Amino acid sequence: MFQALRYRLLLSYLLVLASILSVFAIAVRVVFTQSLTQQLTAQLRLLGQGAAANAVFNQKQGRIIVGKGFSTPELIARERAIQWFDLQGHLITQQGKAVLALPLPASTEDSVQIQASQPRVQGVTLPILDKNDRQPVGYVRVSKSLAEQDERLQRLDLGLGGGIFVALILSGVGGIWLTRQAMLPIEENFRRLKQFTADASHELRSPLMAIKTNVSVALKYPNGMRPADAEKFEAIASATTQMVCLTEDLLLLVRTDQTPGRDRETVNLASMLADLIQLYQSPAAVKQVELKSELSTPIDLLGDASQLNRLFTNLIINALDYTPPGGTVEIQASQVGQTIFVKVQDTGIGIAPENLERIFHRFWRGDQSRTYSQGGSGLGLAIAQAIAQSHNGQISVTSELGQGSCFTVQFKA
Ligand SMILES: Nc1ncnc2c1ncn2[C@@H]1O[C@H](COP(=O)(O)OP(=O)(O)O)[C@@H](O)[C@H]1O
Ligand SMILES: [Mg+2]
Repeated sequence: MFQALRYRLLLSYLLVLASILSVFAIAVRVVFTQSLTQQLTAQLRLLGQGAAANAVFNQKQGRIIVGKGFSTPELIARERAIQWFDLQGHLITQQGKAVLALPLPASTEDSVQIQASQPRVQGVTLPILDKNDRQPVGYVRVSKSLAEQDERLQRLDLGLGGGIFVALILSGVGGIWLTRQAMLPIEENFRRLKQFTADASHELRSPLMAIKTNVSVALKYPNGMRPADAEKFEAIASATTQMVCLTEDLLLLVRTDQTPGRDRETVNLASMLADLIQLYQSPAAVKQVELKSELSTPIDLLGDASQLNRLFTNLIINALDYTPPGGTVEIQASQVGQTIFVKVQDTGIGIAPENLERIFHRFWRGDQSRTYSQGGSGLGLAIAQAIAQSHNGQISVTSELGQGSCFTVQFKA
């Protein structure tokens, strides 16, 4: 029980941490990418201004003449390229290899282009201005391969991913310690509470037994007793029996929690259920409830026979208790692969949806049910669930008010 709680705490802690770290990593990545792009744009713009100045418009020839101010090997070495265009966007000449395979942008005012397909290239387009009237006479586009930037980003991704991974592992280890420390006092209190319940139930046994024996002795010789006194003794006997059952139930509940895996043997569930059905055939007949079964034999389960017997007894008694005369209670057992299913289905009063979780709580009893049940203390299903869990099983329930309920116990064979 605490193990599951600890895992859940740890998992929530790691999930929150992972989300925070991811947001942080994404923010770092975005800022870093933006700053790299801006840096590159500034460099390219500087180069572009040089390249624009290197071209002059020859009035006589009516075209742009490009000077020889740039060394192509250097441009290639730095993965850069320069393209000169006339006003119509026709390429005049180019130098370098990392050219953009894209047409000029529609708006040529200092615009940045990034070629998404491989090889990735970033380009900046600037106008070439006429020296006299400062009118554009052509365009120059400088570009640079993004291979180096992509490599840097890849290294950043690797660093961030690795960092998050290591941080999560370290936090996981720290978290295991933290959750253990946080749960220690809770576990200790819970253990003490259980011990108290066990001790109290145990201590109540002897005085209850003394009352029970004395009352039954007194009732054995009712001759000198007034009839009213005999009735009171009967009431005391009945209340004592209830209290004995209650203390036994509490003790069983604490012990089931404490010692899972004790007294394990191979139990044939099908024959155990067949015996129980036979046992409850006459109480069912008295209540005018049909008790039937559908058992596929044999179904073997490693477990504590007396506890399993108690689990199914509780479910069958509930089904009989909460089913009005004329109803049916059906018990089915089957094995599908490695999973064993035992279903106890009734056509009884049903359980309201909001109570479906609560019925397994200790001492919880449905209000309506009090009219149907005589001796129940509200521990029956809590005991059944504790037994199922100590056998690595679980109980689920589906129910509809006024239609009936179906309790399904699942075990791993
Ligand atoms: N088969 C059933 N049909 C309808 N209600 C049920 C059924 N089984 C259990 N319940 C509801 O769950 C409550 C708790 O059951 P249980 O723990 O066995 O306590 P008890 O039977 O002593 O009241 C019951 O009081 C009843 O309201
Ligand atoms: Mg019950």
